[in-house]
Amino acid sequence: MACPVRHSLNMPDGDPLEDESGMLYGEYLMLDKVLQAQRLLSEKHNQKVHDEHLFIITHQAYELWFKQIIYELDSVREIFSEILEETETLEILKRLNRIVLILKVLVDQVMILETMTPLDFMDFRNYLKPASGFQSLQFRLLENKLGVKSENRVKYNKDYTKVFGNDEKALERVIQSESQPSLALLVERWLERTPGLEVEGFNFWGKYQTAVNLLLEEQRQIALAVPVENLREYRLNDLANRREVYESIFKPDIHEALLNRGERRFSHKALQGAILITLYRDEPRFSQPHQILNLLMDIDSLITKWRYNHVLMVQRMIGSSQLGTGGSSGYQYLRSTLSDRYKVFVDLFNLSTFLIPRAYIPPISSTARTQLSLWRNGKGKVLEENDSKNGLEIEDNGFEEDIV
Ligand code: HEM
Repeated sequence: MACPVRHSLNMPDGDPLEDESGMLYGEYLMLDKVLQAQRLLSEKHNQKVHDEHLFIITHQAYELWFKQIIYELDSVREIFSEILEETETLEILKRLNRIVLILKVLVDQVMILETMTPLDFMDFRNYLKPASGFQSLQFRLLENKLGVKSENRVKYNKDYTKVFGNDEKALERVIQSESQPSLALLVERWLERTPGLEVEGFNFWGKYQTAVNLLLEEQRQIALAVPVENLREYRLNDLANRREVYESIFKPDIHEALLNRGERRFSHKALQGAILITLYRDEPRFSQPHQILNLLMDIDSLITKWRYNHVLMVQRMIGSSQLGTGGSSGYQYLRSTLSDRYKVFVDLFNLSTFLIPRAYIPPISSTARTQLSLWRNGKGKVLEENDSKNGLEIEDNGFEEDIV
């Protein structure tokens, strides 16, 4: 069956595909099930409320798209957990981009439901109690598979599995989604293997620290030369703060403390990989990884936007002091989920703090460039030898050319 619509059209006599056997459109898409699945509870109460139809369709559309996102996410996780070759990076990009586009639709879809007024909603809200989006199994799977950790959930949401009661199948899926490697964890492992981090090789981290120290020292000299005392003090204080921020990534124990407080998520090595990719994104080898990092941030930021749009809609529909049908404090609970706790790639957002001007980025020699093209799999095996064309010359900024 090529185009499912074709069979539903009245084709003129002599259609060459007339005798083709196969499923019909409705059969293939099981529309009998899908289109029969809108049961208006208000009708059951002999009070047909027009907007309940929209309310049900909107939720069902969300759940279908959640299903597609989970489908894509599972496949991306699978690719990430195996060897990652150049062709697969492209597939990851394609699928992550698809997730991003779906999420954009989901963020906008809130507007359609907002055409329902609070008074219309009131007409049937009581009928649907105690049903609530809080019980959306797919939403929890989505969060867990992305990497939202139980310990980072807000207090009311920590025990989120209890809403599934005795539904063993649902509980099994949730527990599995918590125990399998999340996308965040797989990305972390992948970043840890970024070529160029090897101390005996390009030794990016060593070079980067030298570059940062040089940058800060130059800025200190400029600050010291400021003639006005107040301004000089201000500049020097600002610089001391910046040095402290850099120390939070240079000193592994500070990084560890931030990890324990939940303010950082990636391991120290993974963070180094992410900084490397961001600084060298113009190198052909790092262009696709850089796009991956951007898409991961898009996913995080679109889910946050969805949460925000949903909260605003909830306030519009039930105000800020009514309880939710799922028993939470409603608006107040939802508002608490807007924090960074639920951003799984929060470290990527914060990378900008550690960027340095282009002129200070350590240059890559042609030998090093060839070495950098070797991305290794989890067992240290070199995956691919990409004979880089050495098309990119980096301006000499005082660093010695690197010989690996
Ligand atoms: C009139 C529209 C809506 C209202 C008034 C509303 C209200 C609420 C409230 C009050 C909660 C908090 C839990 C509770 O106590 O019930 C909640 C949670 C939730 N709702 Fe909605 N909702 C609406 C539409 C939607 C739609 C269209 C979706 C799409 C699937 C959705 C998905 C969710 C999800 C996933 C949660 C859990 C969020 C979390 O725990 O972080 N809601 N909703």
